[in-house]
Amino acid sequence: MTSFNLGAGSAKISRLGMAAFAAVAAIAVGSADAASVTKSPFGKTKDGIAVDQYTLTNDNGASIKFISYGGIITEINVPDRWGRMGNVVLGFKTLQDYEAKSPYFGALVGRYANRIAGGKFAIGGKEYTLALNNGKNTLHGGNKGFDKNVWSVETLPSIPEAAAAKLTYVSKDGEEGYPGTLTVAVTYTFNNDNELIVGYEATTNKPTIVNLTSHSYFNLGGDGSGSIYDEILTINADKFTPVDAGGIPTGELTDVAGTPFDFRQGTPIGARIRSGDQQMVFGRGYDHNWVVNRQGGGMSFDARAYDPGTGRSLEIWSDQPGLQFYTGNFMDSTTVGAAGKQYRQGDGYCLETQHFPDSPNHPDFPTTLLKPGETYKTTTIHKFAADAS
Ligand code: GLA
Repeated sequence: MTSFNLGAGSAKISRLGMAAFAAVAAIAVGSADAASVTKSPFGKTKDGIAVDQYTLTNDNGASIKFISYGGIITEINVPDRWGRMGNVVLGFKTLQDYEAKSPYFGALVGRYANRIAGGKFAIGGKEYTLALNNGKNTLHGGNKGFDKNVWSVETLPSIPEAAAAKLTYVSKDGEEGYPGTLTVAVTYTFNNDNELIVGYEATTNKPTIVNLTSHSYFNLGGDGSGSIYDEILTINADKFTPVDAGGIPTGELTDVAGTPFDFRQGTPIGARIRSGDQQMVFGRGYDHNWVVNRQGGGMSFDARAYDPGTGRSLEIWSDQPGLQFYTGNFMDSTTVGAAGKQYRQGDGYCLETQHFPDSPNHPDFPTTLLKPGETYKTTTIHKFAADAS
């Protein structure tokens, strides 16, 4: 086991500061309970590649764990209102389970998160074809997306008040059908305010499309505690992008007012999940992209979830135009998670910051094109907190 002390100071990283966290360089001062990064083996892939698990622990003793395979976040351990630590994301015990049956639990998703209609898109008049791995469409990068590759991991000893690691992956020209060699770096930073900050960067040597996200399934009551339908969700969006039966946006931006998609006021996730709405039937529940209300560029508030049972809450902030809210609709009791419980529909939910699904085929949607010389750069903050007891 390797361990790096990252220091315990008193300065807070502000939201603005966090957005610029990658540029921060400060001297780490070691202390017994300082933020730390540890590393331990997590087995070998079926192709024989060694995978490690990393633990980022902050000064409060809260921690996140991730593995180099898919950059998968396997645990997020944060306190409830009584100060009891609990893991609030779904996951498996073994690498074999992640390889064989994971519905993208905790993974880094790319090169294009969510769906591309018919697996086809064009850049400058040239058409590209991707593998169809979701009915007639491509989902989450194709057959072997970023979630199914082993990333290189470097621990970062230079960020104050936080434990951090940088993951890199080079996606070759033509991989899964996408043009251009894409060099990707993702930074996980876990600070003393119990904020997990995910920073993404990518560059390419040919015009390509990029849409990266992190696919944790949250359950603020704790992994294995059952349904998330009582959690109160707020989404900062007046509109969402309705889909066809295959989950492809129709192109409209529809008002959430008067629909089960209106989460502008905190509402229990399960309150309208069986409402009979056609969109809810297509999605088997919530599996849609919300158009986040944004004021200019920079970070904005996307969503907040609150679990009345444990008092835990999660806020999501990002600079992305969309947010996919998915209620784990395809989990059907056939997998057993790390807590030894079967996962059923509604046992966890994803809040995936992203560009809108199928953007390359919707010129009206914000563009996902990345050209040589440009840098794709985005940040998402997951802020965990709890009520006072
Ligand atoms: C996304 C999709 C869902 C589903 C999950 C993974 O959220 O929108 O339809 O495929 O990923 O199971």
